[in-house]
Amino acid sequence: MQVLDGKIASAAIKEDLKTKIHILKQQGKRAPHLAAILIGHNPASETYVASKVKNCEAIGIESTLIRYEDTISEETLLREIHRLSGDNGVDGILVQLPLPAHISEEKVIYAIPPEKDVDGFHPVNVGRMVLGMPAFVSATPYGILLLMQHYHIDTAGKNVVVVGRSNIVGTPISILLSRNNPMGNATVTLCHSKTRNLKEVCKGADILIAAIGRPNFVTEDMVADQAVVIDVGINRVPDSSKKSGFALKGDVDFDQVAPKCSYISPVPGGVGLMTIAALLMNTYHAFTQKDAVPS
Ligand code: GUN
Repeated sequence: MQVLDGKIASAAIKEDLKTKIHILKQQGKRAPHLAAILIGHNPASETYVASKVKNCEAIGIESTLIRYEDTISEETLLREIHRLSGDNGVDGILVQLPLPAHISEEKVIYAIPPEKDVDGFHPVNVGRMVLGMPAFVSATPYGILLLMQHYHIDTAGKNVVVVGRSNIVGTPISILLSRNNPMGNATVTLCHSKTRNLKEVCKGADILIAAIGRPNFVTEDMVADQAVVIDVGINRVPDSSKKSGFALKGDVDFDQVAPKCSYISPVPGGVGLMTIAALLMNTYHAFTQKDAVPS
């Protein structure tokens, strides 16, 4: 069994990007620039955004963090997004989700121009991704592809089972892996709450992707010998032995499942780290391919 180490894979991607950005600067160009908007004080969002900003700095991407209290009006937020949209010095815009209940997620996502939508949430990017056109792919599915690519995991002809059909993970990864391209060509089954015989379906997987958001949901009896298991879950479970009061647990019972696998991604230290690398890749591409995605 080999661990799919997100730390190693993301470090390789970041090192490569750092070199590319260094070369840009040597050529007298400005650095790519990410603007991140964080609303309120959701602890998970604070952690994610801080990590995004820190990782930008580490590889030479400029970042601007714009913070608002959760009393901000939708109108003010949309105005700020419009301002950033028109700023030629800003290449990528992200608004950290979830948003306060009085702000429409849909309106916010629509307000970000597709060519600056480094989260890949805008319907134009989702549509382009589905059609196999150049698009920003959202960080988690893109991060999964980058992790598998780093470890040379071949997907062609493999049976992939994805558990969970969310808009930002399960649905896009199932589409990406079934497409006719080097990181696709798999036969994909997308499972959800109405799936019958989930255990048996999962057991048929050469590659099992767990993205349901339930700690330790995938147990040893659901996994075939020598399967590749990708754990996308980042679940906070109470743990009084930790200073933070919680521990991060994946959707897979790692201790039970790992001995059966050919490869398995851990939580923490797996897909989560890759999502940051994917965001940095998207921001770099937003800078270099300004005309790739028409608005
Ligand atoms: N909240 C949880 N994941 C994400 C993400 O990938 N992007 C944004 N903007 N918000 C999130």
